[in-house]
Amino acid sequence: TIKAFLFDLDGVIVDTAIFHYQAWRRMANELGFDISEEFNEQLKGISRVESLEIILQHGNLVLPEERKAELAAQKNQWYLELVSRMTPDDILPGVPAFFSQVHDAGIKTALGSVSKNARLILERIGMSNVFGTVIDGNKIARGKPDPEVFLKGAEELGVSPADCVVFEDAVAGIEAAKRGGMLAVGIGSPNVLTQADIVWPSLEHVTVTQLLKSLDRSAG
Ligand code: G6P
Ligand code: MG
Repeated sequence: TIKAFLFDLDGVIVDTAIFHYQAWRRMANELGFDISEEFNEQLKGISRVESLEIILQHGNLVLPEERKAELAAQKNQWYLELVSRMTPDDILPGVPAFFSQVHDAGIKTALGSVSKNARLILERIGMSNVFGTVIDGNKIARGKPDPEVFLKGAEELGVSPADCVVFEDAVAGIEAAKRGGMLAVGIGSPNVLTQADIVWPSLEHVTVTQLLKSLDRSAG
């Protein structure tokens, strides 16, 4: 039986995944190369520092630690400029309706994000008090695909991993859920999220009943 839903933030609740891409792309362009949308898929769910390493490697650049710290801070500044304009209108379609069903069904909720900006974003979109617990980049030692972020969420909710469903748009996030022994619902394309138990294009037009049925589970 399913007792908790654990949600990723960027790309599941809000479309900040595109902001991360725009900010990283701006940085890469300034360094003299480009990153494609396809390349960006591997950055989703990956921490700021690790993302920078992957991008620099892609551009064949080896830089001193000090310069890397500057670049990571610059990217975050550009990203925060985009975030500062966010409002509750930026919540992805279907999310509010889905959450009211989740609460009605008595299913517990957690946010599981590697982002250190997660709380700020929740405030901007008016969703600070929606989750049973919030696990973000400040509370974990290892980013996705390590399961730590979701295992912590389950633990704080007092639910065993086998009774949890994770909602994720990232390949690394689906891997984290599976390694944690949880069910994984991919939000996006089945061609990308191949390890997910099921994949939906978004949380729009999905009901909790339908979802549990597709996973062959019940709530309780
Ligand atoms: C999420 C996003 C990643 C981002 C990471 C760290 O996992 O999917 O694209 O790199 O958070 O975010 P932060 O806001 O701390 O730079
Ligand atoms: Mg995501």
